[in-house]
Parts: sequence; structure tokens; C-alpha cells
Amino acid sequence: MNLSGVDFAQLAQEALKRCQVLSCFSEEPGRLTRTFLSPPMREVHRTLAGWMEELGMAVRVDALGNLIGHYPGHSPNAPLFLLGSHVDTVRDAGAYDGALGVTLALALIGGLGGKRLPFALEVIAFSEEEGVRFGVPFLGSKAVTGQFEPDLLRLKDAQGQTVAEAIRAFGLEPAHIPQAAYNPAQVKGFLEFHIEQGPVLEALGYPLGLVEGIVGQSRLEVAFRGQAGHAGTTPMHLRKDALAGAAEWMVLVEREARDEPGLVATVGLITALPGAANVIPGEVRMSLDVRHPYDEVRSLAVANLVTRAQQVAQRRGLELGYRTLHEQPAVPCDPKLSEMLALSVQAQGYPVHRMVSGAGHDAMIMSALCPSALLFLRSPGGLSHHPEESVWPQDAEAALRVGLDFLHRLAAEA
Ligand code: GLV
Ligand code: MN
Ligand code: MN
Repeated sequence: MNLSGVDFAQLAQEALKRCQVLSCFSEEPGRLTRTFLSPPMREVHRTLAGWMEELGMAVRVDALGNLIGHYPGHSPNAPLFLLGSHVDTVRDAGAYDGALGVTLALALIGGLGGKRLPFALEVIAFSEEEGVRFGVPFLGSKAVTGQFEPDLLRLKDAQGQTVAEAIRAFGLEPAHIPQAAYNPAQVKGFLEFHIEQGPVLEALGYPLGLVEGIVGQSRLEVAFRGQAGHAGTTPMHLRKDALAGAAEWMVLVEREARDEPGLVATVGLITALPGAANVIPGEVRMSLDVRHPYDEVRSLAVANLVTRAQQVAQRRGLELGYRTLHEQPAVPCDPKLSEMLALSVQAQGYPVHRMVSGAGHDAMIMSALCPSALLFLRSPGGLSHHPEESVWPQDAEAALRVGLDFLHRLAAEA
């Protein structure tokens, strides 16, 4: 594959710099937090749209706030090949989780230098992947793949605003969400670039990882309810302290997950109400995130953790409430597309390392629409979901060499 004439180092530098530019658009001063359709998402759209237009792409925003750039193929009715990742973030995020998959996709189109392929390329900046604002992840890719259930519109954020209201406040129309779905017959496939977000590639000394599958995940909201009361006057044996019950259960969650190989379980969000130093907590709400490569093991673990919570609640005279917010089975990446990607990795002189992703990615939802592949870039220090997350420029360059090789292989096959 002749990729000479393309300045990969310059394209890689620009893709990384663009992630830094996007990281300035935040809801919070001094740190990066950008949740679904929050005000800074408008700045992200404006900026990305400018970069896309410079590349001769037509830009649109679908009803769920996914920003999509279209780079035409040889003919107007050419099939589509999709690239991209998400542009929402966790709280106090780094600059590369998600954003890098978008800026590298734009760099690939830059690397084509105006050349048309037998398929059109669309770069999707998914509006939501993390599940931070509404507790449910992948809202963007669910819309694009026709998996967005209307019930999701009723979810509320911490301020009581629903998904439907958030969409309208952004100037979009929830009734148009079904039109956001691609027609599977028109889509050849999807490729996502993403940082590994873990230490494996760095430990091996490899720049890239070929993802063969993505683990399944469950997200629940769990609440213990007791009795709020005066912290000074209520003797210890007469209390129904919801937070003490929650604490006991959280330690059990950690222990159960440690005892099951491959299982990870996390309570990442906790609210104690009413929330004062001199008031016994009457209610505690928590998130629970459970993941395992095997769906049966994950389902059993979730059932077991709920039983444990019920036992703790019963012993302490508390009430337990829980609801499942999200159930995502484990997903294999497409073998054929992944093999083509492996050939590209090899042809560009990099080791082919096959791995499983413990993090969720848009590619896992996209695989319901079309063959999907995922390429990881080494994460220095294994650091992600952290403001010091970083990417080596030479690894971004490696991803671009592989990506362009891959697009040419795909074109040769078309
Ligand atoms: C996304 O980052 C996830 O795996 O939760
Ligand atoms: Mn993330
Ligand atoms: Mn991500």
C-alpha cells in the first residue's frame, strides 16, 4: 500500500491539538466536564463543523444531537462507511476519551487529499456515550442504530430536566429521532479509534491494540431508605441509618467482585439525603456498574448483589429500592473487518495485539447496525477518565497510517 506523500506526523499533531481545543469547551470552570447536550456542546459542534467544512464535508446534526460530516464517494449513491466516536465526557475528564476518535477520523479524511473512494465516508461525533447526565449510556449511538427506545425520553437529570426537554432546549425535535437511524442496507461498516484507557499496551510496548470484543455491562440505581433524624439525640441502637447500610453493602460489592475472576463492579455515584453533618442520613441513592466478558456471569453477579443489598436492608430495618437503567450484552467486533484491520496493522509494521475492551464504546452499539471494528491506541500510564489522560504523537501517527491503509484495502475490495 503506497501511502507516500501523506504527512502523517503533521496530521497526528493536528488531531491531538484539536482534542486540546475541544477540551476547552466545558460546563465547569477549570476542568473538563461536558455532558449530553450541555451548553458547551454547541461550541464543539461549531468547531467540528468548521473543520469538517474545510475538508469539503457536508455537516448535519440529527435529532439526538449527533454531529455528522459527509465526505462523498465516487458516486452519489455510493454506500457509506462510518467513522467516529463520542464528544461527551465524564466529570473532570481528559481530552482524548472519545474526542480522539473524531479528530483522527477527520485527519484520515485529510490524508485522502481529496481522493474519492467507492464509498462515502461519514464521521459521527456521537452526542452521548458516557451516561453521565441521565445515567444511561450510548444515547447517541442508540439513535443512529434505531435502538433508541421512546421511554428514554422520560429519564431525568439531577435538575429534573428530561431527555426530551434537553433535546428541545438544544433546538432539536425528539419526534425526529427515528429519522436519525441509518438504513443498514446502505452502511458497509464502522471503525472507531479510541484510547485503550488501561495499562496493557504500554506494558507490552505496543502502540496499537486490535479489539476483538467488548465486555457487557449493567447499570443500576440502588437506594436504601431509613429514617432521617437528629444526630445528637438518637441513640445508635434506635437509628435507621441509610448511609451505614449503603456503606456495608458497598464493601460487599467490592468483595464479591474480587472473588469472581473477570468481574468488575463499581459504585461510582452516591447521594446521601438530606445531607447535613448533624442529620442521620434517611436515604442514600447509588449507581452500580457491573461488567464481565460473559453475560451469564454478569447477570448472576447483578442478581447476587441485589440479594446482598436486600439482606443488609432487612437486617438494618431499611427499605431497598433498585431499578436497572442499562443492560448491554458483550459484543464481538466483526471478524472480517477486524481481520482487514489486522492486515493493515501488520502491513504498516506494527505488532498485532488482540484484546478485549473492558470499557464500553460506541462500536458495541454500532455492531447492531453494521460490521464494526475498534482500534485502541496505547494510554500512557494506563490513565483515563482522568484529566492527565494523554496520547503519544507517534501512536496517533501509527493509528493514521493503519487507518489510511485500511480505507485503501476496503476501497480495493469494493
Ligand atoms: C465508558 O467510558 C465506559 O466504559 O463506561
Ligand atoms: Mn469514557
Ligand atoms: Mn470513550
